Amino acid sequence: MIRKIGVVTGGGDCPGLNAVIRAVAKAATQRGWETVGIIGGYEGLLEPRQSLILDYQAISGLLTRGGTILGTANKGRFSAKTGHGETRQLPVELLEATREGMAALGIDALVSIGGDGSLSIALQMHEFGIPLVGVPKTIDNDLEGTVMTFGFDSAVGCATDALDRLHTTAESHRRVMVMEVMGRYAGWIALYAGVAGGADVVLIPEIPFDYETIVAKIMAREAMGKHFTLVVVAEGAREAGEDFVTAAGQEANREARLGGIGAAVTAELERRTGKEARNMVLGHLQRGGSPTPFDRALCSMFGAAAVDLIAAGDFGRMVGYQGRGVGSIPISEAVGRLKLVPLDGSLLRTAEALGICLGR
Ligand code: F6P
Repeated sequence: MIRKIGVVTGGGDCPGLNAVIRAVAKAATQRGWETVGIIGGYEGLLEPRQSLILDYQAISGLLTRGGTILGTANKGRFSAKTGHGETRQLPVELLEATREGMAALGIDALVSIGGDGSLSIALQMHEFGIPLVGVPKTIDNDLEGTVMTFGFDSAVGCATDALDRLHTTAESHRRVMVMEVMGRYAGWIALYAGVAGGADVVLIPEIPFDYETIVAKIMAREAMGKHFTLVVVAEGAREAGEDFVTAAGQEANREARLGGIGAAVTAELERRTGKEARNMVLGHLQRGGSPTPFDRALCSMFGAAAVDLIAAGDFGRMVGYQGRGVGSIPISEAVGRLKLVPLDGSLLRTAEALGICLGR
């Protein structure tokens, strides 16, 4: 018998977290349940516990608001991910303390909103006997079990808008403009924004690139009288035979901070083509701001479906968007693997059909 549920946001933030929180609280209220938000990620369940009653007043205005009113964390005691496929087993004492925290707050079940890292933690909690369900979040869209994670559409909107703006200045100055977007292992943002924004070159982690191919594309455009080129590069893209480009200041027990491939590509293209080139890193702009209408609807569906799972006692499952609607799969089938851009997928084939250079 459920009377009170908890909701927690973990990992990097993204547009739509608040919209899911709102949908969970609203759908729970319809069932006569109370909802409690856990502050600061899973840490909020531990002493000194921090939580917030999500009544009508607390969730007012959340549909459109960026970030998460609950706060989030991707480091600390609950950090489970240090790299892809590397999951740290949480100590039993921590899992026990989590269960105690839920009991102390009177929470009968938890909605865990997160990406691969936070849902890997959720899986361990579920296997420990903690009743919970998952909601898939990440702007990178690289989580299995859902055609789309929430936050992705908003990030693509941001990147496409930026590309539209770069387009005009690139043309005015006859420059090569390179835009670095997020996308650690998967190039979903780069590819969608690249196609939507009319990029000439899109470099994604799934396809190691070769500079000569890109130079040939730029020169072919020159020959056609197109004196500017737009390049979109995912932060996880790399030259064939090379490793990820990482940012300075790496922290222990965390995934490597990526960043810098845009600058490297810009310098190399300038050197090889003799054309003036500029680099622009879109960075966390992609994670901020209001969710798009699509994401708002997706977040609402996800939140309501998560509450349905709890009502049905279907714990250990993650809601997912299957194209025609929202369903669910076991969290164990979603985490620890990556949903990469398929090399024979329609968007990639479309990009090539339109003459977009993928660096191969
Ligand atoms: O996983 C989502 C993501 O946006 C990645 O694309 C990026 O590498 C990472 O988060 C950045 O995280 P942080 O904000 O901790 O630097």
